[in-house]
Amino acid sequence: MSRKIIRFGVIGCGLMGKEFASAAARWCHLTDVNFEPRITAVCDANPAAMQWFQEHVPTVTKTYDHYRDLLADPDVDAVYCAVPHNLHASIYVDIIRAGKHLLGEKPFGIDLQANEAIQAEIDAHPELVVRCSSEFPFFPGAQQIVQWVNEGRFGRIIEVEAGFWHSSDLDPNKPINWKRRIATNGEYGCMGDLGMHVLHLPLRFGWKPSSVRSLLTKIVEERPDGKGGMVPCETWDNSILACDVRHAEGDFPMVLSMKRIAPGHANTWFIRIQGTRFSAEFSTKNPKQVASLPYAPGGQQAWHVIDAPYKSAYSTITGGIFEFGFSDSILQMWAAFCDEVTNGPDMKQPFRCALPEEAAGSHRVFTAALESQRTGQTIALDW
Ligand SMILES: NC(=O)c1ccc[n+]([C@@H]2O[C@H](COP(=O)([O-])OP(=O)(O)OC[C@H]3O[C@@H](n4cnc5c(N)ncnc54)[C@H](O)[C@@H]3O)[C@@H](O)[C@H]2O)c1
Repeated sequence: MSRKIIRFGVIGCGLMGKEFASAAARWCHLTDVNFEPRITAVCDANPAAMQWFQEHVPTVTKTYDHYRDLLADPDVDAVYCAVPHNLHASIYVDIIRAGKHLLGEKPFGIDLQANEAIQAEIDAHPELVVRCSSEFPFFPGAQQIVQWVNEGRFGRIIEVEAGFWHSSDLDPNKPINWKRRIATNGEYGCMGDLGMHVLHLPLRFGWKPSSVRSLLTKIVEERPDGKGGMVPCETWDNSILACDVRHAEGDFPMVLSMKRIAPGHANTWFIRIQGTRFSAEFSTKNPKQVASLPYAPGGQQAWHVIDAPYKSAYSTITGGIFEFGFSDSILQMWAAFCDEVTNGPDMKQPFRCALPEEAAGSHRVFTAALESQRTGQTIALDW
């Protein structure tokens, strides 16, 4: 099958910029796709970060010190932007204004105002595909849950819990970085860092919180500055949001948690849905397993735990007997983005990357959570 080549510029050549380069480099993993990303240009404020691309990505022919020069490059069709949160608004707005498709990293603006500025530019350019990065829903176990929700299996929903937990910040000797500073990561702290991942599926399912009561905690108050001293660690480490969700078949509680300090958890993303007819759980802690409990009145309540086969949104050369992992989810997310750029509404499969409306929804929830923490009150949200 012939493949449309999408010429990409990468702005921000750090951790996530490299993940994209790796996914693009193993595009042969995907079968039956008519699109392919080709990274032709990169930009980073730190020249050393671009050097990795020059050494490892042979398609890169241009390096730019300033992102505006990359945006002026006519050989760039689309941009992946993975920079600190304080730069999202200005750079994303300029990318869209330059007429490039954009996969932007979460949280899609450092705060609500920044997100609204990005949204205004998106509204002015309906011809562009603009999406927010969020890869975990592409795990086969998560896709199975999406299918069950779409089939309406759960009956009346009793309760939903979703979260994303890390633990490396438990180490008080971990040096400070931009993700622990309000100026660069934002007032949201762990919510801006982890929250879009948690809200992607609930918002996709239409489960918009009508109220939020938050509990935000700072556990490690200062960290090494890497130069022998200590500096304040300003951002919220952990958050628990208790939400009400209005639903036609009955309102239900939804508990969302985003934790930088959850002992023993390294990149644990999970969703649990309990319903009167069906319950289901998936966690990346056990990435092969998906659990479900079908129920009929008076019947047995038994969890069924299966090893989910490698059955991804986009088919791959990997056989169903093998395991799926983080970098596979990144590859699948990129396939969904490139599919939408190439095929628009006729995408090969229906699960799209996180939408700007979903990112905007997450900002409304995090902003309400900050207000709840400040006032000790439950904050109503009107959608
Ligand atoms: N989807 C995920 O799973 C995931 C995981 C980690 C981070 N992220 C997100 O990705 C984004 C980047 O995070 P990261 O972990 O890759 O950070 P990083 O610090 O590893 O990389 C950021 C890069 O941006 C560069 N940069 C800074 N200012 C710049 C400018 N003005 N122009 C061009 N480049 C500039 C830095 O030099 C650095 O190389 C953030 O929005 C973060 O929330 C997403």
